[in-house]
Amino acid sequence: MKSRRNQAMKRIKIFDTTLRDGEQSPGCSMNISEKIEMARQLEKLGVDIIEAGFAIASPMDHKSVQAIAGAVTNCTVASLARCTKGDIDAAWDAVKTAKHPRIHVFLATSDIHMEYKLQMSREQVLQRISEMVAYAKSFCQDIEFSAEDASRSEWAFLAQCYSNAVAAGATTLNVPDTVGYSTPQEMAELITYLRQNVTGVENVDISVHCHNDLGMAVANSLACVKAGATQIECTVNGIGERAGNASLEELVMAIHTRRDFYDAETGINTRQIYRSSKLLSNITGVPIPPSKAIVGANAFAHESGIHQHGVIANAQTYEIMNSVDVGIPQNTMVLGKHSGKHALREKLISMGYELTDEELESVFTRFKVLADKKKNITGSDIEALVLHRRNTAIGSCRLLSHVVNAGDGVPNTSCIKLQRDNDVLEEVAIGSGPLDASFKAINRMLDMDIKLESFSLNAVTDGEDAIGEAVVKVAAPDGQVYTGTGLSTDIIESSIRAYVNGINKMMEATA
Ligand code: KIV
Ligand code: ZN
Repeated sequence: MKSRRNQAMKRIKIFDTTLRDGEQSPGCSMNISEKIEMARQLEKLGVDIIEAGFAIASPMDHKSVQAIAGAVTNCTVASLARCTKGDIDAAWDAVKTAKHPRIHVFLATSDIHMEYKLQMSREQVLQRISEMVAYAKSFCQDIEFSAEDASRSEWAFLAQCYSNAVAAGATTLNVPDTVGYSTPQEMAELITYLRQNVTGVENVDISVHCHNDLGMAVANSLACVKAGATQIECTVNGIGERAGNASLEELVMAIHTRRDFYDAETGINTRQIYRSSKLLSNITGVPIPPSKAIVGANAFAHESGIHQHGVIANAQTYEIMNSVDVGIPQNTMVLGKHSGKHALREKLISMGYELTDEELESVFTRFKVLADKKKNITGSDIEALVLHRRNTAIGSCRLLSHVVNAGDGVPNTSCIKLQRDNDVLEEVAIGSGPLDASFKAINRMLDMDIKLESFSLNAVTDGEDAIGEAVVKVAAPDGQVYTGTGLSTDIIESSIRAYVNGINKMMEATA
């Protein structure tokens, strides 16, 4: 597409760090199969680079980066590494089988980090950058160098750090606002300065990596695009350290909707945005706030009469984007009790889901059960069934039945029957409520010491027969937390299913 000034559009690379910086944030950890599923979705979304993890951090991180390197082909796969040989060796070992591998090395350059964290002088930092970027380059052509806390570094010294990195072979220079301190104007001025003062900058990509401590991560990143940055680092739903990273969906839709202003475009298939956001929320159990831009439940809702009237007359009166372009399912009544597998497959394809025959069979079986309980099955219901197909497949414990007796002034009891491998287990417990009784019965029958960390319940759609989606976080005795989700029109059943799903993940991880 041409811009309003009739120049070729600038192509902005999207570097997704959901599986690294995002996964570092509390409550967002994922197991290997979840990371692979998310990486495959990021590939469908069309991101240019997936930062798959920090290979040296743990054997599990190393394994996940390696698995993602083997699972995706259309994106570059990067691993983070500090400026040490051990980190770079681990990063290379993890990404070397990727079709497009990248090593991402970083070193702090602000005075406060150099003095208190690294205890290194400026000269030592400059030398380490040259040595370690060159070391990484001896393995891999595609090298990104990040000057951690760049936005609080002294500019002339920072330019020298980046010049050294380019001379040693870096192909991308990343400028992080590590502590989310900068303003859009300052970030734009810094990018302009670096473009004028880094030797060899014209041959490399300039990237930005903004944190959201002051709520400006997206604005800061966009200001950098205006100033000449060609790569943005971001995460789905904006997850990340502390207040998070710049949100992928907000950045991409801002560039897309205001391409007249930014003269830029990305390679993102915007119709995969909502699905990516839902998948991440489903995996981590971290809900999407209703008022979250682009993907929140209220992002396209019009409550006031004046707005509704305007939108009916002409959608553009109050809508700057179309929810279809973001891939939000249209919740008109779509299927029901008499719909067959073919109709379900057609609907899934129209929603952008391509399932294998086996996956379709599993979704269809649960669709039929749902259709017996719920008259109108909407796009959101179908999407929930698809997202939960993964969870129903995990683990060796399966809920066979539950009988709950609850009320005011009576003991709350629950009788749970589970299948574990080939055994059928049954237990009754009394609790302070129906869920407490159910969870106690499960703990007792599995003889496990499990702590319920959090529990939430959401309706997937409106109406009395809505599906309830339960999310539980359960902690193992070692403190590790696992997220389980469950789906049913009966909220007690969805809660018990979520609890069993969390336990299954715990048992899978510790097996
Ligand atoms: O925030 C930061 O500085 C980082 C770097 C490692 C890129 O995440
Ligand atoms: Zn970061």
